[in-house]
Amino acid sequence: EKTSDLAGKKVIITAGPTREKIDPVRYLTNHSTGKMGYAIAEAARQMGANVVLITGPVALAPPQGVQTVAVESAEDMYRAVLDRYDEADIVIKTAAVADYKPKTVYDHKLKKQIGGQTLELERTKDILLELGKQKKNQLLVGFAAETENVEEYARRKLQKKNADMIVANNVKLEGAGFGTDTNIVTIFKQDGSAVKLPMMPKIEVARYLLEEIAKEIKRDRII
Ligand code: PMT
Repeated sequence: EKTSDLAGKKVIITAGPTREKIDPVRYLTNHSTGKMGYAIAEAARQMGANVVLITGPVALAPPQGVQTVAVESAEDMYRAVLDRYDEADIVIKTAAVADYKPKTVYDHKLKKQIGGQTLELERTKDILLELGKQKKNQLLVGFAAETENVEEYARRKLQKKNADMIVANNVKLEGAGFGTDTNIVTIFKQDGSAVKLPMMPKIEVARYLLEEIAKEIKRDRII
């Protein structure tokens, strides 16, 4: 059967945004709804994979038959993913992880003051970069949310992060990216090839992506 190459494979999927606390009532985040990552989790389960979905805060119901791990910050997500990395066959990083977090997390609500307020930010850990460094036999798939020079940036990410595939979406296009039920993606691979998909529902994008992953596994690895 066409989809059986993923049967029994351990797949980690990250989804949604992360939340970076400023004080007890405020945080920094982004527009990810989790739809893309949850669709991949659902499709992977349908293809017989053993799925762990590591998710930031979203409004979606956890998919049936999938082990869901809820996290909040980039730091939480880093730990949840790295803790499970050794036993994974495939990791798909759909989450929109915050690149910056407040340097100081206040334990009281920041009061309004005359004039402006400056927040000092520092970088979060780059989960994908670390996964690339620690990679053994895992097939590592990253996403790239770009607004310009999509192909160039995606190919650069593929190399820099030591990923096997990068799924690029131009989040400025109508019907692509954050919040929509559809997406428009191109899958860039290590061998230099690319698979460009037309606009389609996220669940279909998920199926195409997983088929490409299954082909890759069949072609050059025994896991
Ligand atoms: O959730 P939806 O509303 O359905 O929207 C889907 C989506 C737009 C979020 C999704 O399709 C998408 O593009 N996800 C990646 C978003 C992103 O953060 O892209 P990036 O180009 O900033 O990051 C590149 C890769 O590095 C991603 O795989 C990301 O998970 C990873 N990363 C980024 C920062 C960080 N600190 N650690 C990471 O691992």
